[in-house]
Amino acid sequence: MSNSKRYTITAALPYTNGPVHIGHLAGVYVPADIYARYLRNTGNDVLYICGSDEHGVPITLKAKKEGVSPQDIVDKYHAIIKKSFEDFGISFDNYSRTSAKVHHETASEFFKKLYDEGKFIEESSEQLYDAEANQFLADRFVVGTCPKCGNEESYGDQCESCGTSHNATDLINPKSAITGNVPTTKVTKHWYLPLDKYEKWLREWIVEGHKNDWKTNVLGQVKSWLDDGLKPRAVTRDLDWGIPVPVEGGEGKVLYVWFDAPIGYISSTKEWAAHEGKDWEPYWKDKDTKLIHFIGKDNIVFHCIIFPAMLKAEGSYILPENVPANEFLNLEGNKISTSKNWAVWLHEYLQDFPDKQDVLRYALTANAPETKDNDFTWKDFQARNNNELVAIFGNFINRVVVLTNKYYEGVIPEPNEFSDVDNETLEKLRKFPSIIASSIERYRFREASQELMNLARLGNKYLADEEPWKQIKTDPERVKTIMYVALQIAAGLAVVCEPFLPFTSKKLNQILNISENIAWDSIAETEELIAANHQIGKAQLLFAKIEDQEIQAQLDKLEATKLANEASTKVIEPQKETIEFDDFTKLDMRVGTIIEAIKVPKTKKLLQLKVDVGIDVRTIVSGIAESFKPEDIIGQRVTVLVNLAPRKLRGVESQGMILMTDTPDGKLAFIEPENDSVANGEQVS
Ligand code: 2FM
Ligand code: ZN
Repeated sequence: MSNSKRYTITAALPYTNGPVHIGHLAGVYVPADIYARYLRNTGNDVLYICGSDEHGVPITLKAKKEGVSPQDIVDKYHAIIKKSFEDFGISFDNYSRTSAKVHHETASEFFKKLYDEGKFIEESSEQLYDAEANQFLADRFVVGTCPKCGNEESYGDQCESCGTSHNATDLINPKSAITGNVPTTKVTKHWYLPLDKYEKWLREWIVEGHKNDWKTNVLGQVKSWLDDGLKPRAVTRDLDWGIPVPVEGGEGKVLYVWFDAPIGYISSTKEWAAHEGKDWEPYWKDKDTKLIHFIGKDNIVFHCIIFPAMLKAEGSYILPENVPANEFLNLEGNKISTSKNWAVWLHEYLQDFPDKQDVLRYALTANAPETKDNDFTWKDFQARNNNELVAIFGNFINRVVVLTNKYYEGVIPEPNEFSDVDNETLEKLRKFPSIIASSIERYRFREASQELMNLARLGNKYLADEEPWKQIKTDPERVKTIMYVALQIAAGLAVVCEPFLPFTSKKLNQILNISENIAWDSIAETEELIAANHQIGKAQLLFAKIEDQEIQAQLDKLEATKLANEASTKVIEPQKETIEFDDFTKLDMRVGTIIEAIKVPKTKKLLQLKVDVGIDVRTIVSGIAESFKPEDIIGQRVTVLVNLAPRKLRGVESQGMILMTDTPDGKLAFIEPENDSVANGEQVS
C-alpha cells in the first residue's frame, strides 16, 4: 500500500512545572502516538521524539513558591512525566530534556549561527522591571490586560484567552507576578528575530501552500496573526535560568524559552542518533522527510510562525509538513488547571485504575478535542468502557476465543465453502485497514477510533447473525467456517487496534498465540490472517466493566478539589462593630446535648430539637436540616444561647439558639466542647 517514507514526529515538550494530565494526553501525546505507531506498522522509518521543557518562567516561579532551586523542580517533574508517558505506552523513540548538554550546545550553536549571519536585530530599549524583586518582567513574570481581547490576566508573552502572542510592554496595566508591584522600566539590550521580514513568505507557504491540508483551526490562527502584521520578537531574556546567550554582550542573559524549546526536538534527535549509532541529519535536513509537529492550540504561533522563521533563517532545515494542533480538553465543564488542581493526573489515574491505560487512551481519542474544545466527563469515560470496549470489542473477542476452545480445544478449524455472507464479511474486513489509515493520515483520530470499533461491531453482528452456538447442534461443519471467519476478524482487530490500544493488542496477540505481528497492509491482500490448525490460547478478559461507585469516587475527588478551591478563595467577613464587656456578659451561653430531633413538617431547613442545657430540657427550632439528618445528631454536644427571647417558628416556640459555623462546602458545623467531660449547663465565657 504505502511506500516507505521517513517521518520526524514531534510532540510538544511539556513544561516540567507539574505532572502531566489527561489534557496533555488527549491534545498531543495520544494522537501523536497513534500516528507514529500506525506509520511504523505500515513500514515507514519513523522517529517520534519529545523531551522535557525545563526552562522558562513557570519553572522559576514554581521553584520560588516552593523555596527550592529550579533544578530541583525540573528533576522532580522530569522523572514523573517521563514515567507517566512510559506507563501509558507513549512510544517515543527518545525522551530528552532541555537541560541536557546536547541541547545547550545545539541551541547555542543555532543562536550563534543566526547572530553571525546577521539575522537578528540588536536593540536596547525600556523593558518592564520590578525593582523590589530586582527582576526584568517578561513572559509569566508579568500579568496585565491583553491589548487584543481585554483579558485582564494575560501573560507578558501570550494571552491564554485569545492566543495572541505579544511583547510584555504591550500589556495594559501590567503587574509583577512576583511582588504584585506596578513595574517601572529599565533599559536593557536584547536580540530580536525580525518576524516582519518573514511575513510574506509565511503567508505564501502556509496560507496559500497549505490551505487544503492543514487544519482549519491552525490556518485560522495563522491567518489572523499575519493579518495583524508581525513584529520583531525578542529571543533573549534577562534571567538566570536558561541557556546563556553565547555572544558578546550576552552576559547575564539567557535564550527565550520559546527560542530554545523547539530546538529541543533537534537535540532530542541528536541524542537518539548518538545512542542508536545513526545519523540525525536526514531526519531534519532531507527534503523527503516529513516533519509533523503535534501540539495544543496555545502553541500554534510558536510552531507555525516563530520556529519556522527560525528554521528558515538558519537555512539548512526542512519545514513542517503539517502542524495538527488540537483544541483544549475541559474536565467536567471547567478548564483544566494545574494551579487549581482541576485535572486528572496520569500518575493518580493509574493508582485508581491500574492496567486501564488503554481505556483512558480510547476514551480520550473517541472524545478528542480535534476541531473544538471538548469536555471529559467520568460518565462518558465509563460509557466508552462499558458500552464500547467491554460490550463490543471485548465481547466479540471473548465469544470467539471461548467458542473456539469449547468446540475445537482452541485449534482453528478448516473452513468449508464460504457463503455470500462470509465472503462479504471477509471483504469488509480487508477494507478496514485502509479506512482507518485514511482517517489517521488526515489526523482524524476520533473518526479512526470509531472505525476500529466498527470492525469489532462487524464481528459481533456476524456472530449474532450466524449463531454458531445454535448451529453447532444442527450443522457442525458450517460452524467450522463461521468460527474460521470470526477468527480472521479477531486477528485483524489485533493489528488495527495497536496504534490506539497497544496494551490490548499485545494481550490479544497472546490470546491468539500470534508471535509475529501480522503486517497492517497484509490484511487487505491476504486470504488468511490466522491459519486453520493454529492453536490459540485460552480466553482472558480484555476489558472489565467499570462500576458506578468507581466513577462516583472520581467525582467525589473532584468535588473535594472544588470545595478546597472555594475555601481558599472564600472572603472572610470583616469584623463587626466593637461592643462593651457588659454587652458580652448579657449573653448566657451553655453547653448542651441534643436528645431528640425531628423535621419541622413542610420546611426544608428547620429541625425541631430537644436539647438538654443543664438548667432544663428545652425545645429549640434550628435551621440546620440541610446539613444534618435528625437521626445523626442525637447525642451531639452543642453550644446554646439560652437567654435569647423565645420566638415562634412555624408554630413551634423556640427557646434559644444553637451556635453554628460554616464549613468550606457551604454546610453547617456545631461548636462543641473539645472535652467530652464538660457537663450540660456549663457556661461559655
Ligand atoms: O506549552 C508548553 O507546555 C511548552 N512547554 C511547549 C513547548 S513545545 C516545543 F516547542 F518545545
Ligand atoms: Zn487576549
